[in-house]
Amino acid sequence: NQAAKRLAHIADHILAPMSAPSSSRAAKVAVLGASGGIGQPLSMLLKTSPRVGELSLYDVANTPGVAADLGHINTGSSIKGYVGPDQLPEALQGCDLVVIPAGIPRKPGMTRDDLFNINASIVAGLCQAVATHCPQAWVAIISNPVNSTVPIAAEVMKRAGAYDPKKLFGVTTLDVVRAEKFISEINKVDPKDVSVPVIGGHAGITIVPLLSQSQPPLKLSEDELAKLTSRIQNAGTEVVEAKQGAGSATLSMAYAAARFADACLRAQAGEDVVEYAFVQSSVLPNVPFLASKLRLGSQGTVQELGLGPLSSAEQRNIDAMTPELLGSIKKGIEFVEKQG
Ligand code: NAD
Ligand code: LMR
Repeated sequence: NQAAKRLAHIADHILAPMSAPSSSRAAKVAVLGASGGIGQPLSMLLKTSPRVGELSLYDVANTPGVAADLGHINTGSSIKGYVGPDQLPEALQGCDLVVIPAGIPRKPGMTRDDLFNINASIVAGLCQAVATHCPQAWVAIISNPVNSTVPIAAEVMKRAGAYDPKKLFGVTTLDVVRAEKFISEINKVDPKDVSVPVIGGHAGITIVPLLSQSQPPLKLSEDELAKLTSRIQNAGTEVVEAKQGAGSATLSMAYAAARFADACLRAQAGEDVVEYAFVQSSVLPNVPFLASKLRLGSQGTVQELGLGPLSSAEQRNIDAMTPELLGSIKKGIEFVEKQG
């Protein structure tokens, strides 16, 4: 029985991704920031996806080398590197999905908000180009601080007349991936059999795991639940500290972004897909952007699926983080307003 389960797992996770997608043409996907710590392994994972027909690697440096290297992988997709703003329009032309990991990462002692001054302009510039050259594309933003960069992207695209809230996403998949992994270790089960909502935003206390909804259920004391919540909230810092100044999570992030990109491409191909992301939201009153469980379809977000039943600790965590999340959203919007 165990052996049969193992075989089913291999079939689901290794063989299925290598088979051709059931419908629709393979997509054109751009990675902006493709030479970076996330960009390179993410591009590699996308190069192995049968849902990707054309991979467009853009950065301000080194993309010809990355594209030449990945181009020798014997999968069906074509790949091309683009360097510098002059080549950005061609990189974006005809894209179905644009994934943005461009920007600087944290060093020990920094918050994600400390990245705002540099990354806000990078994301604004790239989203301006997306609005001009591929306004129909779905946009997945990885660059931190996500709680501000997504509102920045929305505002820039709004001003360019190209904003579709159904197609703009802040990537929070890594929070879900981490929560699934940590719970699988506690419950001693395969992570693929774990599901747990992680909602809110993507920074410190704004990351709110809803452990009471974990499947399989967690049998932990209040104190243990609080410790696990804190570990999920601080998992990014755990990696930043372990890397000792060499950056933040890159490999697990590339994995998480590839999972999110796959969800987008499956939805674009007509599959009914459920995944978490940080989007324009009406789940909580007066909170205009929120990460929560989404139903995705061929035109983008079809439905926010809500938060489900909350424990009193989870409700307190949501109440406690809301002012910080609202502040980060406001900071992003005001950044674009100040540009005039
Ligand atoms: P990195 O420094 O290794 O790579 C960033 C890349 O962006 C570099 O190659 C750089 O040349 C490129 N870049 C800079 N300005 C650019 C521009 N204007 N256009 C195109 N490319 C540009 O950093 P990293 O480790 O890959 O992290 C990237 C970002 O992702 C950081 O902001 C980090 O905080 C964030 N991040 C987010 C999550 C998440 O869960 N959302 C997880 C991990 C990291
Ligand atoms: C993460 O969660 O790993 C990222 O947001 C990077 C960081 O700065 O922690």
